[in-house]
Amino acid sequence: MKATAIAPANIAFIKYWGKADDALRLPLNSSISMNLSGCVTTTTVEFSPSYREDIVEFMDQKALTILSRSREDSQSESLRVCNHLDSVRVRAGSSWHARVVTKNFFPKGAGIASSASGFAALTVAAVEALGLTLSEKELTIIARLGSGSACRSIPDGFVEWQKGKNSQTSFAYSLYPENHWDLLDIVVVVQKSQKKIGSTEGMDGVRTSPFLGKRIRNIPDRIKEIKHALAHKDIEFLGALMEEDCINMHAVAMTQKPPIYYWNGTTMDIIRSVCDWRMQGIPAYFTIDAGPNVHLICEAKDEKIVSKKASKIIGVQQIIVNKPAQGARLVEEHLF
Ligand code: PMV
Repeated sequence: MKATAIAPANIAFIKYWGKADDALRLPLNSSISMNLSGCVTTTTVEFSPSYREDIVEFMDQKALTILSRSREDSQSESLRVCNHLDSVRVRAGSSWHARVVTKNFFPKGAGIASSASGFAALTVAAVEALGLTLSEKELTIIARLGSGSACRSIPDGFVEWQKGKNSQTSFAYSLYPENHWDLLDIVVVVQKSQKKIGSTEGMDGVRTSPFLGKRIRNIPDRIKEIKHALAHKDIEFLGALMEEDCINMHAVAMTQKPPIYYWNGTTMDIIRSVCDWRMQGIPAYFTIDAGPNVHLICEAKDEKIVSKKASKIIGVQQIIVNKPAQGARLVEEHLF
């Protein structure tokens, strides 16, 4: 009972920041994202009565070392994986333990969060390995339980996660396939190490921000508008809305108690530069997740000029170009 899945990371144009229900990972707001072709995770899961416990192994980039961990290690990463396997086992009525091997094909140490691609790949592989036949909607609901943003890495291309009122109504679906629009996400890496405060922990304090209510009230309109921008492939409108939502999310994070400052000086330099480039007629727009790295969204025709300009900014360590990508899917080749 072995299966392997590959899943992309995604970048949110309208971001998820705050939960209505912690255990079920129901979000306070709906969100919209694009899957990333250049940042994927592959995961193999095997369930067998011969395993006495769950074994979770994280392969490094070159597959030279395997970091082996089990539930007993109480390492939060592997514990989250084991808990997620429980969510799938419950549905299948299985008590078998599993071996999980997972590998990130992200540019090495790029400081890009892998929980979305990781939990999406884990969900699709585990469900298949236990012989369950589930719809895409059901897969997104299970993936959401592992990491909220992971539900958006299951459907193809451009995806909406509808916040819903309960677990069954909080799911993700594709708005458009990956070939809908030649958009690019040029990730400008300014810090390669892992962020200090992860998104799960960061979101815990969201209600202490005086600006949370204002942001959440604005989101339904912003979602409508961004859908319009996607439908009409209107980069100016999309970019303006995306930047507004990014700044709103970070304003909430920065005004939480205790405050969270995800940016560094180079992050701010890039924001200013992007605004200057627009004055020069280059249609590029920024968005930033829970860390200092900046995602520049532009059309494929502007890739060269945007990448060139970004790479010249002092403090920039790496540039990663992503196209819109397919969602999670099964693959034949196993990692073990
Ligand atoms: O699902 P998580 O815990 O990885 O949270 C994602 C939070 C942001 O990346 C900041 C926003 C988003 O919607 O992806």
